[in-house]
Amino acid sequence: MIRFILNDTLVESTAPEGTVMLDILRYHEQLKGTKIGCREGDCGACTVLVGELKNDQVEYRSMTSCLLALANVKGKHIVTVEGLNMERLSPVQQAMVDESGTQCGFCTPGFVVSLSGCCLSHERVTDELAVRAIDGNICRCTGYKSIERAAAIVAGHLAKKDVADPVKWSVGNSFVPPYFAGIAERLKGIEQTSRKPGPVPDGTIALGGGTDLYVQKHDSMHHARIHNLFDEKGIKNITLARDHNGVAICSIGAGVVASDLLASQDLMKRLPGLEKHLLLVSSTPIRNMGTVAGNLVNASPIGDLSAMLLALNAKVDLLGKGGRMRSPMLKDFFLGYKQIDKRPEEEVTAVRFVLPDANTRFHFEKVSKRTHLDIASVNTAIRLEMDGHTIREAHVSAGGVAPTPKYLSNTVAFLTGKSVDQKTIREAIGVMNDEIAPISDARGTADYKRLLLRQLFFAHFMQLFPERFTLKELVA
Ligand SMILES: Cc1cc2nc3c(=O)[nH]c(=O)nc-3n(C[C@H](O)[C@H](O)[C@H](O)COP(=O)(O)OP(=O)(O)OC[C@H]3O[C@@H](n4cnc5c(N)ncnc54)[C@H](O)[C@@H]3O)c2cc1C
Ligand code: FES
Ligand code: FES
Repeated sequence: MIRFILNDTLVESTAPEGTVMLDILRYHEQLKGTKIGCREGDCGACTVLVGELKNDQVEYRSMTSCLLALANVKGKHIVTVEGLNMERLSPVQQAMVDESGTQCGFCTPGFVVSLSGCCLSHERVTDELAVRAIDGNICRCTGYKSIERAAAIVAGHLAKKDVADPVKWSVGNSFVPPYFAGIAERLKGIEQTSRKPGPVPDGTIALGGGTDLYVQKHDSMHHARIHNLFDEKGIKNITLARDHNGVAICSIGAGVVASDLLASQDLMKRLPGLEKHLLLVSSTPIRNMGTVAGNLVNASPIGDLSAMLLALNAKVDLLGKGGRMRSPMLKDFFLGYKQIDKRPEEEVTAVRFVLPDANTRFHFEKVSKRTHLDIASVNTAIRLEMDGHTIREAHVSAGGVAPTPKYLSNTVAFLTGKSVDQKTIREAIGVMNDEIAPISDARGTADYKRLLLRQLFFAHFMQLFPERFTLKELVA
């Protein structure tokens, strides 16, 4: 049985753990305000808030309930649009009305839930952040300008938010109903997931956020035996520490999601530009769900985190039977299309890489059919350790140009020891072209992908050495 609080009510569900919350909400609990659109995490019509107890407070994040397994809500607070209703409209609902942010109304619950998530977050909300909160919501008839205006009004209200205790502030200012004030105490009395890292039991499916599994295997997941890794405590941290040789290492727990990476000030400092890069990955609710391990194990040739971690020259920590640990380099982890160097029982527990220092330059580029909420046609990342104008060490990855996320070993070997100039870059592209093998598919022809990678390779150098290169000079 899985216990959680749904709006103001304790639910004890005996449904299979793989059931998605969207079905629990609509068919078990008869809460039809949460809509079914795509069932693939793409439209946001099914968005709910998921509150989790952390340091005596409840932290809320938006998630798409069509991909959220019952197993992943144990001991949490789930908020649907019904749970936000009060006698009067909340300031979020009122802003949508005042700005004509709704027509047919199908998408509106999703937008209201996402924007209400902004009120409950610990962030100081700007217009930009309010719009970011709804980057996973699609509206097919209103037009976005009126919704953006509503978001700006909400951001204006939230200027006075107490970011130290946003729940108390939101209750006090009627953004959410009074019952929210008592949720933290109530959650303390409900069992949470407390398992420690260990091998994945035979016959079970390791489940992270479910954003790949529920898209790829939706039907079989319902009755699958689930091994929930999303809430495993030992794999949720980002740590910076020195190893026994004194080298500064960053370790990212396998259960860390892209939103946790975005929230890490340490990472942002060491990898300037990372925020911009991460905002190209999916949308806010998917970034709140999709784990680092899920991205690697899914082994999609266009996985964005895979591309970034390949260029960071990361290692993957795998925990097997009898506590046996091994740590292959990520560049050796991807073997073939959807084939990885991982035994079925091995749990990914972390990825680790040497922290960039002042001489390191890192960059990521991605081209997709639209900027947000889209997977890449081609992506690529680069890490250069510089010694003046000379490349002391290079790591380059590319996605969408081979059956796996590809570490470009030959290009890396070519770049190492070279000085950064036009000749090096042009010759490196020749080497790169010989080691990729793109195929034509819905995301573009093989030739187009070659061209894209070439342009993105130029873009790396233009972004990393803006004082030295312009596109005109590079392609001349
Ligand atoms: C709408 C949408 C947009 C998306 N956009 C992007 C995008 O822009 N860029 C991108 O790269 N991806 C994107 N994705 C894909 C997906 O969100 C990511 O790949 C995500 O990181 C997967 O993580 P997860 O935790 O949800 O994986 P899950 O679906 O839970 O699992 C994926 C695989 O990993 C295994 N697994 C999970 N955790 C572990 C572990 N600790 N140890 C061993 N095995 C494990 C599972 O068994 C499964 O085989 C998108 C997905 C959706 C639905
Ligand atoms: S139904 Fe479209 S995101 Fe869930
Ligand atoms: S109001 Fe109709 S889809 Fe948004």
